[in-house]
Amino acid sequence: MDLKEKIRVIPDFPEKGIRFKDITTLLKDGETFRYTIDQFVKEVEDKDFDLVIGPESRGFIVGTPLAYALKKGFVPVRKPNKLPGETLRYEYKLEYGSDVLEIHKDAIKPGQKVIIADDLLATGGTIYSTIKLIEELGGVVVGIVFLIELTYLEGRKRLEGYDVRSLVKY
Ligand code: PRP
Ligand code: MG
Repeated sequence: MDLKEKIRVIPDFPEKGIRFKDITTLLKDGETFRYTIDQFVKEVEDKDFDLVIGPESRGFIVGTPLAYALKKGFVPVRKPNKLPGETLRYEYKLEYGSDVLEIHKDAIKPGQKVIIADDLLATGGTIYSTIKLIEELGGVVVGIVFLIELTYLEGRKRLEGYDVRSLVKY
């Protein structure tokens, strides 16, 4: 199945010059959504891990079905002031703008093995800070899966040393 065919490219969103990869067209197609998650499962099922972690919000869309499929727990990394318990926070730069991410301090036990899932690897800022949060809590990142990788932004360089997989590359 060609996933690129199902991803809609929208020019000049959210800013001029950015060709936005819109996954809503993929998600609304039941066969393709299922195939996508099945491919995620194949990328990580040989690994020993305890949790899937996804950054808000598109990381929730791809991370929770992956966790469900492999009977793992899911831990959200959220935008600021959303999590009710005690949190760790990390500030990061985005492809456009900057933002803060948070995780519950008790979300991961030291030594727990984690897979990170998100829809898109652009500059790598989101996942870099997600890794920082996980490692600060003593978690071990054993793999990172993306639906889309924008190779020309070289986000992979920022994630050197980690097992980074992506289903579709632009
Ligand atoms: C988008 C996308 C990734 C991130 C990739 O999220 O879902 O999480 O940007 O960019 P980066 O590699 O340069 O960090 P965004 O923060 O736009 O929010 P959303 O998931 O809530 O749509
Ligand atoms: Mg996101």
